[in-house]
Amino acid sequence: MHFICSVAALFSHIISLEPAFCKSAPKLAFTDGGTFKILQLADLHYGHFPEIDESTDKVITSLLAYEEPDFVALSGDMVSGFGWDGRKGWFEERWRQLTAPIAAAKVPYGLVLGNHDDEADLMRQEIVDLDMKLRSQGSLTEMSPREAMGLSNYHLDIAASKSSPAPAGRIWMLDSGGLGCSWISAGSGCVEMQTLFWLNRTVRALPAVPSLAFVHVPVPEFMEVWNKGLARGSKHEDVNCPMHDSGFFRTAKELNITAIYSGHDHDNNYEGVLNGVRLAYGHKTGYGSYGPPPGWGHGARVILLRRGQDAAESETWIRLENGAVLEQSRNPRFKAARQTVCEKGPFYCDEYPFEAICNPGWKHAVATLWQRAMGYIILFLATLVCSPGLGLYLYRRKRRRALKDSTDGKGSL
Ligand SMILES: *[C@@H]1O[C@H](CO)[C@@H](O)[C@H](O)[C@H]1NC(C)=O
Ligand SMILES: *[C@@H]1O[C@H](CO)[C@@H](O)[C@H](O)[C@H]1NC(C)=O
Repeated sequence: MHFICSVAALFSHIISLEPAFCKSAPKLAFTDGGTFKILQLADLHYGHFPEIDESTDKVITSLLAYEEPDFVALSGDMVSGFGWDGRKGWFEERWRQLTAPIAAAKVPYGLVLGNHDDEADLMRQEIVDLDMKLRSQGSLTEMSPREAMGLSNYHLDIAASKSSPAPAGRIWMLDSGGLGCSWISAGSGCVEMQTLFWLNRTVRALPAVPSLAFVHVPVPEFMEVWNKGLARGSKHEDVNCPMHDSGFFRTAKELNITAIYSGHDHDNNYEGVLNGVRLAYGHKTGYGSYGPPPGWGHGARVILLRRGQDAAESETWIRLENGAVLEQSRNPRFKAARQTVCEKGPFYCDEYPFEAICNPGWKHAVATLWQRAMGYIILFLATLVCSPGLGLYLYRRKRRRALKDSTDGKGSL
């Protein structure tokens, strides 16, 4: 039957039909031991320095051999689109190269797009289309429904076991777009509010099971989990979160999506739980682009889900290309990081966590003026209230002067 299903899957995009008995076989399922292991390949950046992409092939191959995961999550920026040499077909070549080791290991995988994938010869929709044609090599990628923004929003259910298809876990793959969030066109992308509305409706219509999400760009709360000293791991660069907070963290919490795994910042690899939601970076996997910092080694985050366990509590570690497991502890030289939410843009932002939402310049100017005016009014009132002595003194001095003037003035015409 497996053979028939494989053949059917090959033709399914032509005839748009799969025999019912094939559909009932769950694509992802907890093992008989009740575990499900995810390998997060973060920021592969193929095509940036084509001569060293083979090194990334080797990293992926060894990580897959060490961990034997049940699913591979590609968390964005798989390809450095800006490395495009202008040839048609360039992206597809990179794509086939980077998915080959995953296909060889026969591990199913899914993608979310980053901000650099669509900078070459394929647009976001074409990339998702391309990967959806690779079903036979394990792609589970889906096209986003139209109500959501971005092209890679979908979910993958994990069945309770190979023989019982009822879902017992759920992976959300969410698209944080290219650059800019909402009305602010600079800074990193975000899961837009329109996508959050769709997410809210969709989650509520599905059976409630432990859920986690992959998204390329970290939410602003990644700074908070670090600043509160709740994180294990390292922070070697600013959190490049969006300049506008679309509210993804709050929505995820409301919807019981209790773990958010991101990439985007190659020199950060910490994880921690904030208000019941785990916020975790991957570990820079690819050789392209900057990072990881010298001495770290390339690697990937591994997530071990257990059937029935909350997603914020699942075990997680970082496996390095040399086979070692990276010891992630709370940094003994921990210090809270002061940074603005959006330092890379033209808009002013207060320091997080004091003001999570960034205001465009004019709004900030108005707010500052208003604050100053309020300050002066309060100072004036406080002076009046708190120093009756001064008021009395001024009043008496004035009276004395007036008396003096009136006596002096008499008869001096
Ligand atoms: C989600 O939808 C419910 C109504 O079904 C609403 O009360 C809630 O505010 C929504 N949450 C978000 C984050 O949109
Ligand atoms: C989230 O979990 C709480 C507690 O189990 C439950 O009351 C609530 O209905 C859940 N919300 C959603 C959207 O599933």
